[in-house]
Amino acid sequence: MSIGFFDSGVGGITVLAEALKQLPRENYIYYADTDHVPYGTKSKEQVKRFVLEAAEFMVAQGIKALVVACNTATSIAINDLRAKYSFPILGMEPAVKPAVEKNGSKRILVTATPLTLREEKYQNLIAKFDKDHMVDGLALPELVEFAENFVFDSNIIQSYLLQKLEGYDLSVYGTVVLGCTHFSFYKDCFRKVFGPGTLVIDGGVGTVNHLKKVLTDRGLCQDAEGKVIFYSSGRKQPDNTKYAQYLKILQVANSASQA
Ligand code: DGL
Repeated sequence: MSIGFFDSGVGGITVLAEALKQLPRENYIYYADTDHVPYGTKSKEQVKRFVLEAAEFMVAQGIKALVVACNTATSIAINDLRAKYSFPILGMEPAVKPAVEKNGSKRILVTATPLTLREEKYQNLIAKFDKDHMVDGLALPELVEFAENFVFDSNIIQSYLLQKLEGYDLSVYGTVVLGCTHFSFYKDCFRKVFGPGTLVIDGGVGTVNHLKKVLTDRGLCQDAEGKVIFYSSGRKQPDNTKYAQYLKILQVANSASQA
């Protein structure tokens, strides 16, 4: 059986890429809800309905675990999903806890969708871990549109970020949290804008580490061919060209940051 990966669009591919690295002998179903993306500017009720419909579809294809590779969908629907299904369901939330633990005395900027930042789940996270009021939140919904439209020109992205950050003193931030999976495509742009003294973190690797552990603990690992089937809102994609281009963007970015 496959592992299901779900996102409103292409953002979850940033997490899938890590899974393909760590768990290459699994098969995957990647469901992008392209009919309804973006989620981050929609109502809670709409997003909940979209996520539950998508999950039902994925379950019908046969999945042994589900990764909700979307912070927005997680904050709205993870409890409903876990109440409904008994297989392992992993969600994602902005990495506030590790940021606070690692950060030292500098401020932390959490970037996410407007809906994630508004939601109770995020407010609870802040109340629990940001005791010293070191965290600021910034919604960057246009980054989702950029990623969906395959805009990867770093000049465009960096000037957008600088425009959103106008009036901010960037030197006060020790850590920037990417609390939306779409934003991880732009990690290097964040690094360039904030400079080498600021750590830019996301939840991709942590989520996949957790997935690996859950599959191992439950004896659910497989020795399969590492196939990915992509769906756009329930329509199987005849070929993987579009998604392969996004995976390629990540490979290029990774090899450049390791060079
Ligand atoms: N990728 C999603 C997230 O992690 C949501 C983007 C959107 O649809 O607005 O929050």
